[in-house]
Amino acid sequence: MKVLLLLPFLAAVQSAVVPAVDTEAHFHSSFPSAVEPQGKNISLNGVLVYETLPQQKLDPTKAVLLLTDVFGLPSPDNLVRSIFADQWAAAGFQTYAPDYLNGDAIPVGGNVTAWIVNHGEAQTTPPLLAVIKALKDRGVKQIAATGYCFGGLYVTRLVQNNTITVGTVAHPSLLNVPTDFELIKAQSRIPIEINNAELDTGFTPAFALQTDAVLGDGQYSPGYLRKQFDAVAHGFAVRANGSDPVQVAAKQGAFDTSLSWIKTHLK
Ligand SMILES: *[C@@H]1O[C@H](CO)[C@@H](O)[C@H](O)[C@H]1NC(C)=O
Ligand SMILES: *[C@@H]1O[C@H](CO)[C@@H](O)[C@H](O)[C@H]1NC(C)=O
Ligand SMILES: *[C@@H]1O[C@H](CO)[C@@H](O)[C@H](O)[C@H]1NC(C)=O
Ligand SMILES: *[C@@H]1O[C@H](CO)[C@@H](O)[C@H](O)[C@H]1NC(C)=O
Repeated sequence: MKVLLLLPFLAAVQSAVVPAVDTEAHFHSSFPSAVEPQGKNISLNGVLVYETLPQQKLDPTKAVLLLTDVFGLPSPDNLVRSIFADQWAAAGFQTYAPDYLNGDAIPVGGNVTAWIVNHGEAQTTPPLLAVIKALKDRGVKQIAATGYCFGGLYVTRLVQNNTITVGTVAHPSLLNVPTDFELIKAQSRIPIEINNAELDTGFTPAFALQTDAVLGDGQYSPGYLRKQFDAVAHGFAVRANGSDPVQVAAKQGAFDTSLSWIKTHLK
């Protein structure tokens, strides 16, 4: 009797939503970006998208879909002197970063709690799916989605829904742990890789371990890898202080890990 009464309580405490991290808790350079974007803004199915193409010959049947954090398209990465989406293009992929924030990226110092009210799945998913449809109409057969913070939630959804070929996620927010990963285990065929930060106050190392408990040790046959980067915080895979070698190495390490995962899993 006692055990039965405890069960719903245990389930409730074990499942938790990863909190969104405050805008000011992310590293931001005070300097303007030293580099110009290589790509351009286009419209796909009526949605603003930053498109950046490799210099070399590209495979038109493959694309990287980059789902940004809450700072969206107006935010280039500063001190390490690269625009993040352009790094993916330089690695050989046509790369698309959709404005799935509907023209309402949050400024530094913006209030995430107030902002999120207008950025639920009901508002965010339609532009995202419109862009995916446009890419498929253009002949893209395999999409590698890579998502950061807020974008980590949506890459997880695309993995759950078997919409893409491969997914990578860094310091995700707003996910339900472990429920969202149990859903992946139950219904997905898509390999997923997660980069997390030791000092993240959102997707903490404890959440990461809970995720491993669901997907790790070969429990998820399509493929699962998680890599933790020590001594860095939320947002590390997107922005790094160029004067801090630990941050620079972690950002590059996250990129390299995701790139290698994507290259392994695209056919
Ligand atoms: C693309 O559009 C966003 C949002 O309007 C803007 O902030 C950004 O500077 C534009 N990027 C380019 C390369 O034109
Ligand atoms: C942020 O917005 C929420 C909801 O509108 C509000 O309750 C809170 O006081 C705001 N925080 C700050 C620091 O303004
Ligand atoms: C994934 O599927 C669920 C259930 O059908 C749906 O509610 C959600 O909008 C989908 N999300 C994405 C990003 O495709
Ligand atoms: C960047 O790192 C350097 C070296 O650790 C430090 O002095 C500087 O204050 C940092 N800049 C920012 C904006 O955090």
